[in-house]
Amino acid sequence: MREQIRELARRQDAVIMAHYYQTEDVRALADVVGDSFELARRAGDTEWETIVLCGVKFMAEVAKILNPHKRVLLPSPEAGCPLADMASPGDVIALKEKHPGAAVMCYVNSSAALKAVSDVCCTSSTAVRIAAALPNREIIFVPDQNLGAYVQSKLPGKHIIPFEGCCPIHHHVGVEDVAAARDTLPGAPVLVHPECRPVVQREADFIGSTAAIIDYVDRHEYDAYIIGTEIEIERLLRRRHPNKAFVTLSPDMLCKQMKKTRVEDVFNVLERGGNEVSLTDDEMLAAQNCLTRMIELGTYAR
Ligand code: 13P
Repeated sequence: MREQIRELARRQDAVIMAHYYQTEDVRALADVVGDSFELARRAGDTEWETIVLCGVKFMAEVAKILNPHKRVLLPSPEAGCPLADMASPGDVIALKEKHPGAAVMCYVNSSAALKAVSDVCCTSSTAVRIAAALPNREIIFVPDQNLGAYVQSKLPGKHIIPFEGCCPIHHHVGVEDVAAARDTLPGAPVLVHPECRPVVQREADFIGSTAAIIDYVDRHEYDAYIIGTEIEIERLLRRRHPNKAFVTLSPDMLCKQMKKTRVEDVFNVLERGGNEVSLTDDEMLAAQNCLTRMIELGTYAR
């Protein structure tokens, strides 16, 4: 099936992209594997006719909004992100009325409708850089309260007004999980995603996106690491560094949505078509500005 997928992709001028949280067999099909920012950036400047996005719905929507004339396929159309639906455009409008001088920054884990009422978008790896670049002192941050708190901790000169949304997987872990993991792997650094709660962030040795956590392990010489993000990152790191030990903060850090895409779905979507992201021209146009600003302000030299 792997060979057939490659052949179908070649014939349809399709690029396959996958988020790090996708399973190993799906990632192995991909031409591009990355965190949310990398996927958005690469989708934005791709010359391929079709983008197959192995991830969740908002990621495929981002690829489509940045490429309105290209075909974007989501192999598993029921793969969503609970965080993305937590805030509505009405919530943002109400916050704007209360804070008229504030800019609205929206996490990429959000609907196209939320992006349409926001001034700029961000990912976990670019949130601090982008907030720092905004002229406004007040910033309404939707929908992830924990990423908002992380930005606030890094930029004390700004006033972040958070919305109360969260990623259930990351929000669920607590300081007791950090203590238990430290007992299991004494001396191992704790690396957490900024979607974890501030109390957990404060216990961590490093806070970063999925790509930044992988990069941290690649660049350090510790024998063991404690991982505070979705379980796939631990699995990926074990394969990449077989001589090092890893433990995830909680076995519950498993995103069922990200695991919905199977190799067969990638095959089916290429062979039969369907599952194409369809947003109206108006929806795309309204959300475009906030995403192109994210790419402009978030791109950094590697
Ligand atoms: P990053 O890809 O920016 O690390 O975050 C993805 C995500 O949705 C975490 O839950």
